[in-house]
Amino acid sequence: MRMSKVWRTVYISKAVGKAGQNLLSIVEILGESQRNNARDGLTGLLLSHGGWFLQVLEGDRGRIAMLMARLERDPRHSDIRVLAEGEAPGRAFSDWSMGQVLVTPQIEDDLAGQSIPDLDGRGATDLLDKAAGRLRAMAPA
Ligand SMILES: Cc1cc2nc3c(=O)[nH]c(=O)nc-3n(C[C@H](O)[C@H](O)[C@H](O)COP(=O)(O)O)c2cc1C
Repeated sequence: MRMSKVWRTVYISKAVGKAGQNLLSIVEILGESQRNNARDGLTGLLLSHGGWFLQVLEGDRGRIAMLMARLERDPRHSDIRVLAEGEAPGRAFSDWSMGQVLVTPQIEDDLAGQSIPDLDGRGATDLLDKAAGRLRAMAPA
């Protein structure tokens, strides 16, 4: 049987204009993401907080590279910084073609006073893992 290794990329970016602040623009981004990611076999989570985005993407490396190229051209955010990327032993976010992480008081606790641009790769990965656990607890399969 083929090992189901996946590529995983974690990045942050700065929201431009209304993107990130306004629920409608986030819902719009999520809609496009879910449609495209379902087609491309990508999964992940998107967190938006304090004018910044934090996103994890997992799936085929080439598909993620193509998405990163589209993301670079998207005027709704800027200053994309990849915090972590590499091969992972399997998917950690397979429940969501693109899940939205609402910043609840629990997520704020997980941030422990840091803001998104303060996070390093480790901190960002930990936060996303905790967020996935909280999302699963809210809506068990
Ligand atoms: C913060 C942020 C996250 C995004 N995440 C994704 C994503 O996971 N998948 C995706 O296809 N597009 C995502 N997009 C949208 C892309 O930048 C791009 O607009 C879209 O993929 C183009 O889709 P289209 O070719 O269907 O027009 C995101 C945009 C922003 C601002």
